This record gives sequence, structure tokens and C-alpha cells, in this order.
Amino acid sequence: MNYIGSKNSLSSFILSTVQNVVGDGLSTKTFADIFAGTGSVGRTFKPLVKQVIANDVEYYSYILNRNYIGNHTSLKYQTFITKLNELDGVEGFIFQQYAEGGSEGRLYFSNENGKKIDAARRQIESWKVENKLSEELYFFLLASLLESADKVANTASVYGAYLKSLKKTAQKKLVLAPAVFQETEKGHQVFQEDSNTLIKDISGDILYLDPPYNARQYGANYHLLTTIAKYDTFVPRGKTGLREYYKSAYCRKNEVLDSFTQLIADAQFKYIFLSYNNEGLMSQEDVEKVMTTHGSYQLETKKYRRFKADKTENRNHKADSTFEYLHILEKK
Ligand SMILES: C[S@@+](CC[C@H](N)C(=O)[O-])C[C@H]1O[C@@H](n2cnc3c(N)ncnc32)[C@H](O)[C@@H]1O
Repeated sequence: MNYIGSKNSLSSFILSTVQNVVGDGLSTKTFADIFAGTGSVGRTFKPLVKQVIANDVEYYSYILNRNYIGNHTSLKYQTFITKLNELDGVEGFIFQQYAEGGSEGRLYFSNENGKKIDAARRQIESWKVENKLSEELYFFLLASLLESADKVANTASVYGAYLKSLKKTAQKKLVLAPAVFQETEKGHQVFQEDSNTLIKDISGDILYLDPPYNARQYGANYHLLTTIAKYDTFVPRGKTGLREYYKSAYCRKNEVLDSFTQLIADAQFKYIFLSYNNEGLMSQEDVEKVMTTHGSYQLETKKYRRFKADKTENRNHKADSTFEYLHILEKK
């Protein structure tokens, strides 16, 4: 998934830095990723560590992580995926509110794809109610639907707005592809909580932090993924059909430093790694000051290229350079 702040392209940098700092023996360590997003960092560490703890405050992210991190033994999913792909479309909530031909004219999905999402989402819920799915399979199918719907969404990159006409990828027919996860011998833990609350209840060896770094709230930017995930009833607001969403302190200039300070103080982990960007709400000096109070601190920097908008769109897709910092604390 093309996700703001995704660490997909940085995961090998994060892994090698962690290995250099922590040394051998990752297989005996617990690794917590408590702003997990798409789960890309947890996925990198999942086969290498004793246990991953994944958490994110957003429900769509919880679903992705329940699947990619929480699921660890093989599932018989193929007949369910085939059946979902064979369903006739239904004019449900997603079609009505977020497809071109719906009553609101919001162009997030083609008519066909809007109806397909409704049909698949309803079917998954019916199977759950009829006890035909294990929890593992339920989250696997929901993750597969979220990933597949996101691929055909008619947006430049996030759901804060839709494009005026259907772009090429949004004209493609939604095909539900299995959201394949890596199998591991041991199990993992997945939560959906505010990180500052969860941190008091968990402990381990390595804590990875990847909070939002600017004012863009994830709940607003990915509202449609939450709506497909929850499939609840509410009155969508305004042109974009927004729902009520969680407002993170990490996206607020006047709250972020206090929240971060408290998080580091409460963390019961020996090693803490924080990914942060040079354009973030907290300055490099702010972060360093907080971390040095609690032990020995170092900083790793990586320059990388970032794309501003969807590469398939013909505008605004110049790559620019940005710096990613990995702040490292060995706690006293
Ligand atoms: C930069 S993204 C993480 C990206 C992730 N590492 C990846 O590769 O996909 C930040 C994440 O923090 C989550 N978030 C924001 N505030 C939070 C909070 N207070 N507690 C838990 N998660 C939060 C957002 O929902 C978002 O998924």
C-alpha cells in the first residue's frame, strides 16, 4: 500500500542499524512497532525476532497488522478468495456514498468497483456471523479487501480528495488478491491503542517508533479505509464524505513534544529507535534532548528520494530529497 511515511523502502536501513546497535541474538528479542501503519517494519523483523508487538490507533491498520503480523500459521483461504471474486456487485454504502454513480457523486471508485467492495465486505461479515471463518481468516480476508480496494482507488495518493475523472488504475476491475503473510513458529501480539496508553502495559527489548511527523492526520487521510474496514453506519460529511476520526497528539505542534517525552519516559525497553524526518514538527534537537535524559544517544541519517504524488498521474510527481533520521537510545 502506498502509505504516507511508509518505511517499505527504508526497512533494510532500519534492520541493519538495529543489528549494528543490538548485535547478534535478534532471535531472542522482542520487537515492538507501536506506530505500525502498514506493518512494513514489523514484517521485516517478524521472521528474525522472538516476538513482534504491533500497534496502531487506526482500525484499518489494526486489520493489516492482525493479518501480516498476527497471522503466523498457514490458512486455507483460496476458496474464500475465489468466491469473493465471483460475487455480483451490490449497490451498498460504498457504492452509494463513494462511487461515481452513487447518490453523492463522489468519485473514489468506479461504479463496478464500488459495488464489488460492498458485495465482498458484506459476504465477509456474513461468513463471520455464520461462524464460517476463524478470526485469522476474517482478518486475512479484510486485509486482502483493503489492499485490493486501495489499488483501484481514484485518488492522487490519499483519501483527502478524489480525482475529477477516473484515472487508469481506478478503471481497472478490482480483483481480490490474497494478502499473503509470513509464517513463523511463534505467535505475535497486535493492538489498536494510543501508543502513550499501550506503552505502560508492554515491555521488551527493542522499541521502534515511527509516529506521524507533520500535521496530516492519518484518520482523515485514510478515512475510506476505515469505512470499508468498519462498514458501519454514519452520515458522511462534506464533499469528501469524511467520518469522525481520531486526532493524534503527534500531529499537533503544541502537543507532540509532551507526548513524546512521556512515551520515552514510560518505555520499558532497553533499545529505542525513532524514525523521524528533517521536516518534522519536533526538531532534531528536541528529540536529542528528550532521549539523552534517559541514556546513551546516537543518530543515523539517510538521504532518500520521495515522490510527492501518485506516479501514474501526470502532474506533481517530481521526486525530491528528504532526510530520514534514526534516533537511537540505549536506556539506562
Ligand atoms: C509514519 S506512519 C507509520 C508508517 C509505518 N512504519 C509503515 O511503514 O507503514 C504513523 C502511524 O502512526 C499512527 N498513529 C498516529 N498517532 C498515533 C497514536 N497516538 N498511537 C498509535 N498510533 C498512532 C498512524 O495511524 C500511522 O499509521
